[in-house]
Amino acid sequence: MSDTETTEDEQEFEKLPDDAAVDLQAEFEKSQVQEVLDKLDKELVGLVPVKTRIKEIAALLLVDRLRRRFSLTSETPTLHMNFTGNPGTGKTTVALRMAEILHRLGYVREGHLVSVTRDDLVGQYIGHTAPKTKAVIKKAMGGVLFIDEAYYLYKPENERDYGGESIEILLQVMENHRDDLVVILAGYKDKMDRFFESNPGMRSRIAHHLDFPDYSADELEQIADLMLKEQSYQLSDCARQALSEYIPIRMELSHFANARSIRNALDRARLRQANRLFASRDKALKKEDLITLREEDFRASRVFLDGKLDGDPADGIMNEMSFEEK
Ligand SMILES: Nc1ncnc2c1ncn2[C@@H]1O[C@H](COP(=O)(O)OP(=O)(O)OP(=O)(O)O)[C@@H](O)[C@H]1O
Ligand SMILES: [Mg+2]
Repeated sequence: MSDTETTEDEQEFEKLPDDAAVDLQAEFEKSQVQEVLDKLDKELVGLVPVKTRIKEIAALLLVDRLRRRFSLTSETPTLHMNFTGNPGTGKTTVALRMAEILHRLGYVREGHLVSVTRDDLVGQYIGHTAPKTKAVIKKAMGGVLFIDEAYYLYKPENERDYGGESIEILLQVMENHRDDLVVILAGYKDKMDRFFESNPGMRSRIAHHLDFPDYSADELEQIADLMLKEQSYQLSDCARQALSEYIPIRMELSHFANARSIRNALDRARLRQANRLFASRDKALKKEDLITLREEDFRASRVFLDGKLDGDPADGIMNEMSFEEK
């Protein structure tokens, strides 16, 4: 951190005399964190334990700021986190919101999120890893570094693996640049637990563990409604029935990825709707036709036809996975 930034920081945390009184509510309003919390409540279905933890963390950070102004503490708290849960449970989405909260509370300068996996950090050859990891860290400074499937950094079975080198650099930065970079690790719970067992240094630097549960069929239907609304689509009554039959069947099939699978299913229904409309293009279309997904747009799914995943057989089931959000 440069000298000028330190000065700004000191201004923000202007010290108060012992007998001063501070208004926590006013501080809270000033931070505009409520806006982010409201958005989180409105735009994300379920996830009650995660939302509660985020509110707790926000409260902790607010109180910490006030304590600093009374010189009760001078250390930047450790804010590195661990998000565990199955694919499509909202980890990346919540990490983005977390970055915004940390920014509004003044714990990171910029509040951007840099999302990486092992390949972005670890090189194939000797000497390549350190520069790669350092370049990623540089990009993330002042914001949040989100490391998806972080356990792949550590491959004990491979003696000549460079992942350990990347972990060493990350550990140093997580300790020495706590005031300007927050690292969020993410991945499956059991794999993450094993990773921490072998990397106690990493575990000791993580302050908050948030577990993202799988969604219920009911929550997935609500998520579908939110996504449809966002994209200006609606379901006919029969299409709604088809979707609510689709969800529990899809949940039992392979490669199920919670909300991501729902997004994919809606993408394919929209594709079928477009083809249906195109096939009868001689008829005039109303706005209603353009926004309505009908029963057949869902029932044509292979999930209904033969209990398999959608996609061209030539692409194999990867097609189901290829609608990854960018
Ligand atoms: N609770 C929710 N309410 C509404 N939409 C959600 C919810 N959870 C996830 N989504 C949506 O589902 C998609 C996948 O979510 P996200 O990428 O955050 O999951 P993830 O846990 O990071 O998944 P992965 O492990 O596959 O990276 C996104 O489009 C996101 O907006
Ligand atoms: Mg993700």
